[in-house]
Amino acid sequence: MPSKRPRLLVTAGPTVEPIDPVRFLSNRSSGKMGYALAETAVANGCEVTLVSGPTCLAPPDGCRFIPVKTARDMRLAVLKAFPKTDVVIKAAAVADYRPVRPARHKIKKTADEFVIKLTRNPDILKELGMKKRPGQVLVGFAAETRSLLRHALEKMAAKNLDWIVANDVLKKGVGFESEENAATLIARDGARIKFPRQSKVKLAAALLKIILASLRG
Ligand code: CTP
Repeated sequence: MPSKRPRLLVTAGPTVEPIDPVRFLSNRSSGKMGYALAETAVANGCEVTLVSGPTCLAPPDGCRFIPVKTARDMRLAVLKAFPKTDVVIKAAAVADYRPVRPARHKIKKTADEFVIKLTRNPDILKELGMKKRPGQVLVGFAAETRSLLRHALEKMAAKNLDWIVANDVLKKGVGFESEENAATLIARDGARIKFPRQSKVKLAAALLKIILASLRG
């Protein structure tokens, strides 16, 4: 049963995967969507834990903030918090691969071509989907560049999610590195709500309203 104050775990930002002491693999996530969700959840009286990869943003007041770097760090922080969580919103853009063996020293240039061998990172949300107990709600994000709804539905099924927020990151002015976003919220039963382009703060409030209402219902 959810506690009176819903306990939310939000992940945000990119993960960074070291190549050598001065370089890393990462992605274009700014963290703004996740931070907006955390801030809005605090304002709505939730107990919020924010697990975040490196961003330029200040952690919102009133939440427990856990900074992480790699996908594996994020996994450990999320799994630790998960048992005491009612809702998980995974807005983070987790790197799917990491360099197999990060170099201990700065890699010097030699040949014209250079290959970095990568290995799969753990799928954190999939693991939560396998572990979740009745009453826990899992919300994923699907950032896609094509076949948005099909990929989002596949992810919801593969990761045993209750909701997925699908957004097209190639659309102009929305998504990665932007102040605004447009998205479709899809429920487990296939119901869809489309949110037009708006500030990430407004979108966060609209998404949370629905997700928190479903907890009470
Ligand atoms: N996710 C995760 N762990 C990963 C990869 C993704 O927890 N290793 C979560 C993200 O936080 C997001 C959801 O799964 O909520 C979907 O992430 P996305 O990167 O869109 O998809 P992937 O599952 O990585 O699939 P693909 O790379 O094939 O698009």
